[in-house]
Amino acid sequence: ENLHDFVASLPKAELHVHLLGAATVDTVLDLARRHPAAGVPAERAELAEFYTFRDFDHFLKVYWAVQSLITGRDDVHTLVTGLARDLAAQNVRYAEVTVTPYNHLLDGLSGDDLLDGLAAGRAAAARDHGVELAWCFDIPGEKGAKAGRETLAFALGERPDGLVAFGLGGPETGVGRALFAPMFTAAREAGLHSVPHAGETTGPATVWSAVHDLGAERIGHGTSAAADPRLLEHLAEHRIPLEVCPTSNVRTRQVGSLEAHPVRRLLDHGVAVTLNTDDPGMFGATLNGEYVAVAEALGLTRGEIAQLARNAVAASFLSDSPRDALL
Ligand code: HPA
Ligand code: ZN
Repeated sequence: ENLHDFVASLPKAELHVHLLGAATVDTVLDLARRHPAAGVPAERAELAEFYTFRDFDHFLKVYWAVQSLITGRDDVHTLVTGLARDLAAQNVRYAEVTVTPYNHLLDGLSGDDLLDGLAAGRAAAARDHGVELAWCFDIPGEKGAKAGRETLAFALGERPDGLVAFGLGGPETGVGRALFAPMFTAAREAGLHSVPHAGETTGPATVWSAVHDLGAERIGHGTSAAADPRLLEHLAEHRIPLEVCPTSNVRTRQVGSLEAHPVRRLLDHGVAVTLNTDDPGMFGATLNGEYVAVAEALGLTRGEIAQLARNAVAASFLSDSPRDALL
């Protein structure tokens, strides 16, 4: 059995994938043709060029342009069912999917259309693809405390089925995690899990802040923790898993290559590493591809690869009984 077939045969969970960033090239081309004013290329070659990211901030600008294409319930439904189809093809049985309500609402989508599209898509994902989806609603950090308060109000006011986590995304530079401490405290008191992005584009201090100020139960990326031995020890000891997204880090030029990725150092220090795609449609990533690439770059054994898949199940917010049923 070759490596790819082995990886594909593992039932998997994915814990860090943005709904918008999962839109396939075909889906985005279709949306772009319907909304020519949004500035997203509607031709394949131009979209590939558009998806060549100069750095992380450039990636976010592209991401926001694509976001503006999502204007109705059916667009949301298309994103969710497309993601479920693609997850099923990777033998992913369960995923925690990040959605950024505040930004979608700013772009003119109504809250009801967002929630209806998510709910109908989630039902179709389970029914048609055998994939269980859960939601993480995240704060767009660049929009400040107001976005934090409104994301919290939307999450707790609506409490859609499957909402399990509260997050923080967008740029890290100039956006201190601690600004959002009150919203994370309230979200955790209401039973949502804390999963902020931290340490993707800034150093270990941001990861420490996510842990201390936001009560992070997992860290989105957290790759810069590799530079801080005390932090590595803390993450390992307290079993705070990292949602590592290797291809994403290469495509946004945070690391030079998969071979140079700090994932080896994270694993060597006993950190609970999970592998994820982040924005698979925009990065041309698949979850099986992430496992194969890391296994090849690090020379992992089959046992070590299977352990990475089990790490994601263990780090998920699935309770024990659905876990046994799904994975
Ligand atoms: N980091 C922060 N914000 C994001 C990302 C990411 O990796 N993907 C989409 N929004
Ligand atoms: Zn992300």
